[in-house]
Amino acid sequence: MNPQSLKWPESRILKLFEIENPIVQAGMVWVSGGKLAAAAANSGCLGLLGAGSMYPEILKEQIKKAKNLTQKSIGVNIPLLYEKTEEQIHVALNEGIRIFFTSAGSPKKWTPLLKKEGCIVVHVVSTPEFALKCQDAGVDAVVVEGFEAGGHNGRDEITTLVLLQQMQNLLSIPVIAAGGIGSGQAILAALALGAEGVQIGTAFASTIESSAHINFKHAMCQARFNSTFLRMKKLVPVRLLENEFAKTVALAEERCANKEELEELLGKGRAKEGMLHGNLQEGELEVGQIVSEIKDILTCAKLVEKFKIEFLEAKKRLH
Ligand SMILES: Cc1cc2nc3c(=O)[nH]c(=O)nc-3n(C[C@H](O)[C@H](O)[C@H](O)COP(=O)(O)O)c2cc1C
Repeated sequence: MNPQSLKWPESRILKLFEIENPIVQAGMVWVSGGKLAAAAANSGCLGLLGAGSMYPEILKEQIKKAKNLTQKSIGVNIPLLYEKTEEQIHVALNEGIRIFFTSAGSPKKWTPLLKKEGCIVVHVVSTPEFALKCQDAGVDAVVVEGFEAGGHNGRDEITTLVLLQQMQNLLSIPVIAAGGIGSGQAILAALALGAEGVQIGTAFASTIESSAHINFKHAMCQARFNSTFLRMKKLVPVRLLENEFAKTVALAEERCANKEELEELLGKGRAKEGMLHGNLQEGELEVGQIVSEIKDILTCAKLVEKFKIEFLEAKKRLH
């Protein structure tokens, strides 16, 4: 199959972000810096910086880095729950960013200001109810994320497949599907269910250009079908690759540890320790269930090419 022959179905997401492929490389803490966002953009996708783990000055640096590596537009993902949110938004605006993916907070708070500045705003949701609230708040699109996804998840534990069906005919704005998408076949399935684009996290986290530590990338390649678990449900649910830390959390949860105990167990800097510094046993390793299907560390361009070939093959099989 020649990936060049692929013509994606018409989609408002392609037009909104002026991209070739209806694929968003997810914004991910400690993993998606300027290098990954630029590589995704150069591969015809929308590349996002994961601002959640960046102090404002680091965010500025990473935006500049991305801009040196690509002529294409890139965006930022900003979780709306940290003290530095306001500063991050202003840094990104001052650096010329006009694509904002927000998550983990109310879309009402920042959407009006971002729209006034001429930005495209997308908010991440895990229920149809919240998707409607986002539409009312004036966002341009929503990412609907099932709980098989890597990173922080919704409390209602709805899968991507079900969420997409719940979303059908609900909104007038476009839907981007996320959670468990790691192949061209899965992209076809998401589009068949009404999504106009997909957001992919775990698979991009494993690429050469991601800033995940090499130990973490190798651990992803070795993960099995049952290597991830949803933990920390009393704090903020997060899907983790099983390791010593995740096992300690599981034991604490079995004995009904309260929120404060879990907070203490988590401590500070555990995600950085695991994902950026490569401490595979004591660090926090955020990945989605689809990690079981990662076999090699590819370049971003190769990963996108693989998605295109698989999409074409799946489409051919259905004819
Ligand atoms: C390492 C990692 C870090 C993540 N960090 C964030 C984040 O900072 N903000 C956010 O909205 N989502 C975050 N996510 C979720 C992704 O943006 C994306 O929606 C999700 O990974 C999609 O599911 P998948 O992992 O099955 O592809 C993270 C995911 C991973 C794997």
